[in-house]
Amino acid sequence: MGIESTAHTFGVGLSTLEGEILLNLSSTYTTKEGGIHPREAARHHVEVAPEIVRDALSFCSEKKLNICSVAVALGPGLGPCLRVGAVTARALSLKLSVPLIAVNHAVAHIEIARKFTQTKDPVTLYVSGGNTAVVIFAAGRYVVAGETLDISLGNLLDVFARELGYGYPGAPKVLELAQKGKKLVDIPMPIKGQDLSFSGMLTAAKRMLSKGVDVVDLAYTLVEESFAMVTEVTERVLVASGKDEVSLTGGLARSKKLVEMLGKMCEERGAKFSVVPGDLAGDNGAMIAYVGALYYPFKSFIEIEESFVRPRWRIEEVKVPWRTSFSV
Ligand code: FE2
Repeated sequence: MGIESTAHTFGVGLSTLEGEILLNLSSTYTTKEGGIHPREAARHHVEVAPEIVRDALSFCSEKKLNICSVAVALGPGLGPCLRVGAVTARALSLKLSVPLIAVNHAVAHIEIARKFTQTKDPVTLYVSGGNTAVVIFAAGRYVVAGETLDISLGNLLDVFARELGYGYPGAPKVLELAQKGKKLVDIPMPIKGQDLSFSGMLTAAKRMLSKGVDVVDLAYTLVEESFAMVTEVTERVLVASGKDEVSLTGGLARSKKLVEMLGKMCEERGAKFSVVPGDLAGDNGAMIAYVGALYYPFKSFIEIEESFVRPRWRIEEVKVPWRTSFSV
């Protein structure tokens, strides 16, 4: 069983030890206006957790499934949200007398994409409301080869949507507006080596909005330029690493526009490109359960006393024995 609660979504998933996804239940915190409030998102998780957990347990008893371990995303993420998942997982581990497994949320996004896209050793672009990173596997670890130095790409679009009066998550609204746009406005596009910065773009867009620049043109520009930036960084990492596969994961993997731009770049570079399935793109418990299943044969369990949340857990610190042991 896998528990996810790092940000806006509380989810419970089930995977067999062979990695087959059996169940993926979740509830996502949204707002009518304004952004994500960590404490309120955590309150949402506290409210929905009992029913989701109960449904998952009923599914197990109906199908006569035994839970052998509880995996939980302990970070990175928002402290108050992470604690709800951690408390739920500890309680389940004690009640069912099964071990706990600590899962890094970013590793889960990468591994679920690797499973379903059937890529072996891809350059992974992970883009969501909370993260923007290009990750490769090197020297026995996942390593961030390029990332945002300030806000994430999803956050850029969410905050811009908030300026327009939309609630959370606002990125889908901006993507929709952008589809009607044709004219690019002049906006800064800072790429620093293999790293990115989106906060300057956001400030410029807010300023232009207050000066009466057309909303559709601004949305179009933000989407086009930010997607071009992540595509460029992915291309740089692809070339520098010598790998020949690219995988796209995270909530923004649902954007057709981003898929199109990355697909074109990969075609030009002769690289295989694949995208995580839409229902597993955003945060979900199934990917946590799946990584739990990857860890299980290595008995990578943790004690309850060690199950503290890790809001800033870097991917480089994570052990990935399923890749190092079999060199796959
Ligand atoms: Fe995520």
